[in-house]
Amino acid sequence: MARLVTIEKGDLSQFPKEKYCQELEAGNILFLPFIPFPFSEEDHQFLLEQRQTGAKNRKNIAYKPKTNTITNAEGSSQQLLEVMQRYSKSCTAFLSQLLSPYAEGWQLDYASFRPFQEKGRQLRTRARNDLLHVDSFPTRPMNGKRILRFFTNINPTESRFWTTSDPFEVLAERFGGKGVSFPRNDTLLRSLASIGKKVGLPISLRSPYDTFMLNLHNFLKENQEFQQTCHKDFWEFPPRSCWIVFTDQVSHAATAGQYAIEQTYNIPTSALVNPQTAPISVLEKLSQRALISH
Ligand SMILES: [Fe+2]
Repeated sequence: MARLVTIEKGDLSQFPKEKYCQELEAGNILFLPFIPFPFSEEDHQFLLEQRQTGAKNRKNIAYKPKTNTITNAEGSSQQLLEVMQRYSKSCTAFLSQLLSPYAEGWQLDYASFRPFQEKGRQLRTRARNDLLHVDSFPTRPMNGKRILRFFTNINPTESRFWTTSDPFEVLAERFGGKGVSFPRNDTLLRSLASIGKKVGLPISLRSPYDTFMLNLHNFLKENQEFQQTCHKDFWEFPPRSCWIVFTDQVSHAATAGQYAIEQTYNIPTSALVNPQTAPISVLEKLSQRALISH
């Protein structure tokens, strides 16, 4: 089960960075009861005033740092872009110190703004955030890289509530090869795809690892018995607090709360302090087969 590891304000240069990485890789949650970088009242108010209506009214607003673009927002707003960019940059500056062992190898992924009340949010089963799951992105294969997320509750008065359940290795042991099969690594198909990619063909072949992770994500959300009977821990993240989690490892559900903002990082296993705890290592050991190209 996950533990909450609280980080108080202090001199960042004195923080035990490797220990924090170890805690994250052990499936624990780093919790900061404050926002550890400047986050202006103006930016805060601006985000609280955003409304999603019409066709895009079910989606979180995504910010893509690589292209400095926003998707899923109603209309276009230079201010929204600038607010998201500031948050993304501030997170990255902070985490490159707090989790310095990861900073050299990580890839900056999307940031998101979540303006919806999670409790009672009407979404199709596989898109629901209030059902326990591990993260896997249908359109962004990880190839064994980790999904690390930094969350901030920007709701001025309401907490955000999470439930977590068994850690990845327990779920993998329980469902790997049973409820969720281990995909075959078709090396011939993969080499053909890689040749195709090199000559510029728009080919994307998901690794067996990514197929497993997405299948596990879907299986858990659709498995009512698991959702109802599994072990559960309950967490409350107060207004203006932050928390950091490997969401591909910690099974989690956001059960209530409105207005959160988040930045995602993809961490290669080579940057991990304990790579044997990574889902790719756990799965390859369990299945006795290579699930990515090493
Ligand atoms: Fe999630």
